[in-house]
Amino acid sequence: MSGEEMLLIRAADYSATRRTERQAARRCDYHPGAIEDENIRRPGRRQSGRRGGHDGTIERWCRPATGDSTRMERRTRRAVQPTRRGIDMNPASRREARRRLLRFLLQSPLVASGASLAAWWPATALARPERAMPDSARRALDLFQIEAVARTTLSPQAWHFIANGADDGKTMAANRQVFDDWQILVRRLVDVSTVDLSVEVLGEKLASPIIVAPVGNQQLVHETGELGTARGARGHLMICSTASSYSIGEISAAASGPLWFQLYASKHQPFMKALINSAAAAGCRTLVLTVDAPTLGNREAERWFRADGPSTAWRMGNFDAYAGKKGIGDPTMTWDIVAWLRANTDLQIVLKGIVTREDARLCRRYGVDGIIVSNHGGRQEESNRATLDCLAEVIDGVDGRMPVLIDGGFRRGTDIFKALALGARGVCIGRPQLWGLGAFGEPGVRRVMSLLRAELARIMRFAGTTSIDAIGPQYLRRS
Ligand SMILES: Cc1cc2nc3c(=O)[nH]c(=O)nc-3n(C[C@H](O)[C@H](O)[C@H](O)COP(=O)(O)O)c2cc1C
Repeated sequence: MSGEEMLLIRAADYSATRRTERQAARRCDYHPGAIEDENIRRPGRRQSGRRGGHDGTIERWCRPATGDSTRMERRTRRAVQPTRRGIDMNPASRREARRRLLRFLLQSPLVASGASLAAWWPATALARPERAMPDSARRALDLFQIEAVARTTLSPQAWHFIANGADDGKTMAANRQVFDDWQILVRRLVDVSTVDLSVEVLGEKLASPIIVAPVGNQQLVHETGELGTARGARGHLMICSTASSYSIGEISAAASGPLWFQLYASKHQPFMKALINSAAAAGCRTLVLTVDAPTLGNREAERWFRADGPSTAWRMGNFDAYAGKKGIGDPTMTWDIVAWLRANTDLQIVLKGIVTREDARLCRRYGVDGIIVSNHGGRQEESNRATLDCLAEVIDGVDGRMPVLIDGGFRRGTDIFKALALGARGVCIGRPQLWGLGAFGEPGVRRVMSLLRAELARIMRFAGTTSIDAIGPQYLRRS
């Protein structure tokens, strides 16, 4: 069954749930929504119904079935009179205020980190999919639902390892906010019955431009660690971290799609050489050197909770087999490392973490094969620059001579579409793979990838595009 078919079934499921909730609402004697209704109630008749809110939500209301005016009803009539003693009694304002209060409560970390409010809140008041907790990966409607499950499932140590951004999280937030600045210009009357998501990057034909970003220490999130992610990625390109819990050899045995190896520089060159050799032996054709880590980002919540869990969770599979001096992180690293890599491997070299035109030009000069525009998901420097804002200048800096990929904040098919329209060749997904893994294990990762694929295919159909190569700047406008 395709991801899209599953979504359709899930949508049908959801309407069925809503029907049940409506029936429950009809049975109730009184619902606070009654005071929102300005119509005079007809005595002796139980009334119920539903109304569409401005944001598309359904509000339910029902009233008591008594012949005479009840005290509650009289109070209700008084309540719908506008402004009294300076208090805005307008029903619409009250409704909006109530909605805001609910939203505020639900978004508070207290609620989010504790038992899920959605689990015990009366269904009639909270019949909104973005508040629901799917009980299986298959039932998740989008990545945010999977995130919500991961948040309640994982230990504070694991959750903050994933969620934390550097300093005040402004770069991490900027990565997401920027998507709202761009609108998609859709075209009509195009045959979009077949949509092809495949794309070629550095000589490898990929199932889609959606790529699994390198993320270390995945056993902290789920016992299957990177093996679960590799299985869940199902044919998508996965970039494996130097800091993975399992070794690149072990991940390669579990994966069904192509793998690249992400390298952190080390002060110990023989160790780096051993890492590169293991990657080549595991079948990787491309090496991704991360260049945005001259030091560790200031991730305070991650540090705060780090000591709380078992130290075994920080196992480094790629370190096990190497007996010599090892370690990652080298603040002395300069552009010379590209020449060193060239001399020590035939693998293609991609630099991850380039965000300026100047560095993009240097990538060309030093003969790099590709770039990933990245700020490490806002986990390193607090620059406040969104990666999508850096993309155009990086592409310009390399004159389109090498593929430029991007990551940072991609959560929707439309986000991916926007980056592709701005010239990215592929989009890497970081935290969502961990949400999927932490919430549901391998099926969670699979669901994350299939949801993104389905969403990308859907927006391509709406925009009137049938292949990745056809997505260009003509489909985008900045407000
Ligand atoms: C928990 C976590 C661990 C990460 N580990 C690595 C790593 O080992 N190597 C690396 O190059 N990037 C690492 N990253 C950064 C990701 O590769 C990617 O740049 C970032 O997550 C993309 O942003 P997103 O999480 O908003 O999708 C990590 C990110 C997270 C969230």
